[in-house]
Amino acid sequence: MQATRAQILDALSDGPRTGPKLAEELDITRAAVWKHIEALREDGFEVVSNAAGYELEAVPDYGASAVEFGLDAPYEVEYHDSIDSTNRRGRELAGDGREDIVVLADEQTGGRGRLKREWSSPSGGIWLSLLLRPTMPTTHAPLVTMAAAVATAEAVASTGVEPEIKWPNDVLVDGKKVSGILTEMEGEADRISWLVVGIGINANVDIESLPEDRATSLRELCGDVDRREVVQTLLESMSELVADRDRILSAWRARSGTLGRRVSVETPNGEIVGEAVDVESPGALLVDTADGRERVTVGDCEHL
Ligand code: BTN
Repeated sequence: MQATRAQILDALSDGPRTGPKLAEELDITRAAVWKHIEALREDGFEVVSNAAGYELEAVPDYGASAVEFGLDAPYEVEYHDSIDSTNRRGRELAGDGREDIVVLADEQTGGRGRLKREWSSPSGGIWLSLLLRPTMPTTHAPLVTMAAAVATAEAVASTGVEPEIKWPNDVLVDGKKVSGILTEMEGEADRISWLVVGIGINANVDIESLPEDRATSLRELCGDVDRREVVQTLLESMSELVADRDRILSAWRARSGTLGRRVSVETPNGEIVGEAVDVESPGALLVDTADGRERVTVGDCEHL
C-alpha cells in the first residue's frame, strides 16, 4: 500500500483525527490528506468525516489493501478478482526481479496442483502465491514448503477447526483435504534464485465445486470465514518461520497427522509401507518398514 495511505490508516486506527492534525503529523498539505482519504475510500475503506475529524468506520472485506492493513509481515499484496494461476503470475514477477510479494486471487481459471493436476479454484477460496528469495541451497527448498504447511495449518486452526498436516504439505481436517501447496523454484545447486509458494485453501466454497471426494472446505466445516483474517494469520506465521528456520521442523511435527501413523508412500522407486516415525531436514520422512528404516524425500503419502 502507498506509504502515506498506510500512515493515515495507522493514525486513524488510534481514533479520529482532523485534517489539519493529520497534515501536521504526516508533514503533508491538507489537500494531500484529502486526496489520500479519497483514494482510501475508493479502495473500500469507510472513512467518515464528522465533528471529531476523519474516522475509520470499516475496512474492505478482501483485496490487497484489506490484507495489507494491519498485516505484521513484510509482504506486499497484489490482488486479482480472477486470474489463470497465481503461481504463473508469481513466476512472472520473479522474472521482473521482484520479491516478498503475495499474489492473491478470488478465483483462478487455470489453477495448478502437484503432479501436473488441475486445482479447482472457484470464487470464494483463498488462492495465493508468495514469491520469496531465501538465502539457502536449492536442496533446502522443502523446508520452506513445510513452513508454508505449518502457516496454512495455523491459519485454518484460527477458524476453529482442527487441521493436521499430511506429509509433506497437505492440510487435512477429519481426513479430508482442505488445502494444498505447490512450490516452484529456480536456482543453481548452491543457491535458490526464487521460490513461488502457491497455497490453495478451500475457504468459502461449496464442496460440490471441488473435484475430489476426499476434499472439504471451511464453509462445509464451520461456515464462511473472514478470508482477510485467515490470509493475515497465514502470512504472519509464514514470515516468522522463514525468519527462524530452526523452528520449522518442530512446528511441523506439532501439527503433523502423519507421524506415528501407518502410511503408504508412492515414491519414484516404488511403494513404501510402514510407520512414519519422524521428519528430518530438509523435509524427509522417516518410515520404519518391515525391512528397516527408509528415508523418503519425494512421494505421495496416504494415511492407512
Ligand atoms: C496440490 O496439488 O495439492 C497443490 C495445490 C496448489 C494450489 C495453489 S492455489 C494458488 C496457487 N496457484 C496455483 O495455480 N496453484 C497454487
